[in-house]
Amino acid sequence: MFFESFVLNITVILVLIVALTFDYVTKFFSYWYIRHIPNKTPIPFFGTDYFRIFGIRSNTDQVNALYSQYPKEKFVGSIKSRIPDLIVKDPDAVKTILSTDFVDFHCRGLALDKSQDVCLRNNLFYAEGEKWTLLREGLKSVLSNLKCDSEASLHDCLSGTNGDTNVQQLLSKVLDGIFKDLLLDESSDGRVISDMRSTVQKRTFVDRFKTYLKHIFPSLYVMFGLVTMPGKLSSKTKHELEKSKLAEIIKEGSVFQLGLKEKNRSLSDVDFAFAVLSTFITEGYVPCHNLLTAILYDLAKNQQVQKKVRESNEEYLDAVIKESLRLHPPYSVVSRQCMKMYQYPESDLVIDKKITVNVPVEAMHRDEKYYKDPKSYAPERFLAETSPTHSFAYLPFGAGPRKCLGEQLSMQISRTVTRAILKRYQLEVCDRTPKELTLADHGFGRAVDRDIWLRFKPISY
Ligand code: HEM
Repeated sequence: MFFESFVLNITVILVLIVALTFDYVTKFFSYWYIRHIPNKTPIPFFGTDYFRIFGIRSNTDQVNALYSQYPKEKFVGSIKSRIPDLIVKDPDAVKTILSTDFVDFHCRGLALDKSQDVCLRNNLFYAEGEKWTLLREGLKSVLSNLKCDSEASLHDCLSGTNGDTNVQQLLSKVLDGIFKDLLLDESSDGRVISDMRSTVQKRTFVDRFKTYLKHIFPSLYVMFGLVTMPGKLSSKTKHELEKSKLAEIIKEGSVFQLGLKEKNRSLSDVDFAFAVLSTFITEGYVPCHNLLTAILYDLAKNQQVQKKVRESNEEYLDAVIKESLRLHPPYSVVSRQCMKMYQYPESDLVIDKKITVNVPVEAMHRDEKYYKDPKSYAPERFLAETSPTHSFAYLPFGAGPRKCLGEQLSMQISRTVTRAILKRYQLEVCDRTPKELTLADHGFGRAVDRDIWLRFKPISY
C-alpha cells in the first residue's frame, strides 16, 4: 500500500515537473503568431534559434536567412530559446527605433555591463542608463582631443613591403602604429596596443567558446566571471598608461570621470585608462582592420577603380570606402532592447518590455529594393544622391543617439592608409588571394575569416 502510494506520488510529481517545464519553455511560442508577425515554428528548449545554438549558422547568417525568407514583410519574429526577438526590415521602422523613439530603445540589452571584466564593464558599447550618458560624453571629448597624424609611422611600416603580402599582418603593423601615435606617449614601444589587439583577435577554441557564451548566453558569461582582457596589469603596462596621451585627456575630462567614480568606487585612474584603451581596440581598431582589409581586397580585384582613386579627389575615395562598408559591414546586425511596452506608430503591433529588436544591416545593404545590382562592386553608386533609395538602408555605423562615435576617426584612418598604400603600390591579386572575401561572426561584429594575400608592386615615379 505504502509502495503504491509512493509510486503514485512520485509519478504525479514527475508529471507536474514535466508540465511546468514544458509550460515554461514554450510560454512565448505563440507570441508572434497572435501579433500576426511571420515566424518559423519553434521547438521546445531551442525556439526557432536551433541553427545558431548548435553553431550550424552564425547569428548574421540566421538574420540574413530570415530577412530573405520573408521578402514582403516589414517585421519577422523569432524565438531565441524561449524569448521572442524581432527583426525589423522596414527602413522607416528602423528609423523610428534607432532615432525617433530612442527613449524607448536606448539599451542594447546585452546584459554584459555587470561583468567582472573591468574593460567590458566600462565599455560604452555595453553601457546602460546613466553610465552610458557619462561614458558617451567622456569618450566624445576624448575623441575630439585626439590628433591623427601618422604619415611618419605609416612610411616606416610600409617600407620594405614588396611582392605577395599578408594583408592582415601588414595592416596590424600599420594600425598598431596609428593607434600608438593616437593614444600613447611618443616614447612608448606600443606593446600595450599590439598585446591587446592580439588578445582580442585570438581565435583559439577557448576564445571562440567564450565569444559564443558572451553572445548566446551573456548571463552565463557574467555568472562564471569570464574575462577577455587580463584583470591584473603588469607594472610596465601601468607605467605606459600613466604617461599616455589618453590618461592626460581623461584627467582633464574630470566631470565625467567624477560621475563614473561615484558609481564605481574601486576603479583606479589607470584601470579606467586601460578600459578606455580596450574600448578603442575592440570597437575601433578591430572594425578598422576589417574595413581596410576589405578596401584593399576590393581595389586589387577592381583595377579600374584603383586607377581612378589615384587620379581623383577625396569624394571618389570616400565612395570606395562606403562601398566596401556596404558589402562587408564590420557590424552586420545592430540591436536594441525595448524599454517598456511599445506600440509601433500607425500599426497594431505592440511589443513588450525587454524584447530585443534587431536591425539587419548587412541584409539591407544587399537588398535590391535599396541598391541597383546590389551584388556588384560599384563605388560610383555613392556619387549619386539617389543611392541608397532610403537613408536608413545604409547603416555601417548604426544611427541615432547611440550611433558609432568613431565614424569620423575611421573614415580619416581609412583615407590616410588607403592613400598611402596606393601612392606607393599597385595592388594586384596573386595565387594565394581567395576568390571571395568572406566574413564570420566574431563577438558582436564580423571579421575576415582567413588570411588575405595580395601582390604589392612598388610604383616608380
Ligand atoms: C570601420 C570602423 C567602424 C565601424 C564600421 C563601426 C561601427 C559601429 C556600429 C555599427 C556601432 C553600433 C551603432 C548603433 O548601435 O547604432 C558602433 C558603436 C560604437 N563604436 Fe564604432 N565603428 C567603427 C570604428 C570605431 C572607432 C574607430 C571607434 C573609436 C573609439 C568606435 C567606437 C564605438 C563606440 C564607443 C560604440 C558604442 C556607442 C554607444 O553604444 O553609444 N568605433 N560602431
